[in-house]
Amino acid sequence: MALVKPISNVTPKFGSPRMGSYSKFSTIRMSATATPPPSTSTKPSKKANKNVIKESLLTPRFYTTDFDEMETLFNTEINKNLNQEEFEALLQEFKTDYNQTHFVRNKEFKEAADKLEGSLRQIFVEFLERSCTAEFSGFLLYKELGRRLKKTNPVVAEIFSLMSRDEARHAGFLNKGLSDFNLALDLGFLTKARKYTFFKPKFIFYATYLSEKIGYWRYITIYRHLKANPEYQCYPIFKYFENWCQDENRHGDFFSALMKAQPQFLNDWKAKLWSRFFCLSVYVTMYLNDCQRTDFYEGIGLNTKEFDMHVIIETNRTTARIFPAVLDVENPEFKRKLDRMVEINQKILAIGESDDLQLVKNLKRIPLVAALVSELLAAYLMPPIESGSVDLAEFEPQLVY
Ligand SMILES: [Fe+2]
Ligand SMILES: [Fe+2]
Repeated sequence: MALVKPISNVTPKFGSPRMGSYSKFSTIRMSATATPPPSTSTKPSKKANKNVIKESLLTPRFYTTDFDEMETLFNTEINKNLNQEEFEALLQEFKTDYNQTHFVRNKEFKEAADKLEGSLRQIFVEFLERSCTAEFSGFLLYKELGRRLKKTNPVVAEIFSLMSRDEARHAGFLNKGLSDFNLALDLGFLTKARKYTFFKPKFIFYATYLSEKIGYWRYITIYRHLKANPEYQCYPIFKYFENWCQDENRHGDFFSALMKAQPQFLNDWKAKLWSRFFCLSVYVTMYLNDCQRTDFYEGIGLNTKEFDMHVIIETNRTTARIFPAVLDVENPEFKRKLDRMVEINQKILAIGESDDLQLVKNLKRIPLVAALVSELLAAYLMPPIESGSVDLAEFEPQLVY
């Protein structure tokens, strides 16, 4: 928990990181609500301007769920599928805390940050902000699940608490990274002020499993690429990704075990439809997001679309071990559809940035949004791959490389 507010003792001066002013410390907030921000431990200067990150459908979200239903699902007296031995083994794995001493910074960070300039510097800051928000989102959800499940299933509850420990570390490390750029995400403010998206437990399982596994594949792919091409290693945080991503892999494996204990979420036609739906939304969100940020990926020597397709294909193969159906992402038609969505999304974004009246903008958007929806629907309806098996998808705690 202490890591969540790593630099709350600095006096921030609100600036605008997007305008390239990095000489003073700034605290970043997100435009989550229209309500004024509550006071926090950090005191902005009198001339403070609220520094706001633009939010959109593609911004990392915070989640909440039906905790009462969660309690029922993890009650060993009600649910006889809960394999407590397996959860005990997982708990030991989390208690081992492989990365306890991993996240230690050195002076390379600040030196590397000072060398980053111009648009690459801005895009790096955005990468750190978004990653920190996503990690922090996991921390909040797991922490609450750990708290709420304590009485019903102490073993599962403790695993959630230990996963929130990992996510706090990750978010804290990224926020420390922002301090190299004289910035800090105001996580206390985010916790209170941001909107939370409600998902029923079943959907939390699908969405969180996918986000952990996709996180794993993103981190390990970047790590391997930079190891092979050290000339692009422009900021040391990537050197930490090898061990870091194993945390995400373990988190994903825990969700895999949770879903096995809830076979009703995996073994009927509805589960197949939802599995495909969540795969599609997670893959499309990442693809559209990353294609808006090609400067970042090119800055570290990656081709954005190739990187994303690699991550999507690997995540999909991993997911096929547990989900009852996945998308046929290796069919070239799937990528063609993603690329068309990128083109449409770019046109939608261009309208938003134009000087047209709001009404005109909205009218211009209608056919484009319709085209985007039709591409999404077409991708969803592509013949899927029947996959997974509650019986066959054994828990595999070993490293995946
Ligand atoms: Fe994480
Ligand atoms: Fe995670």
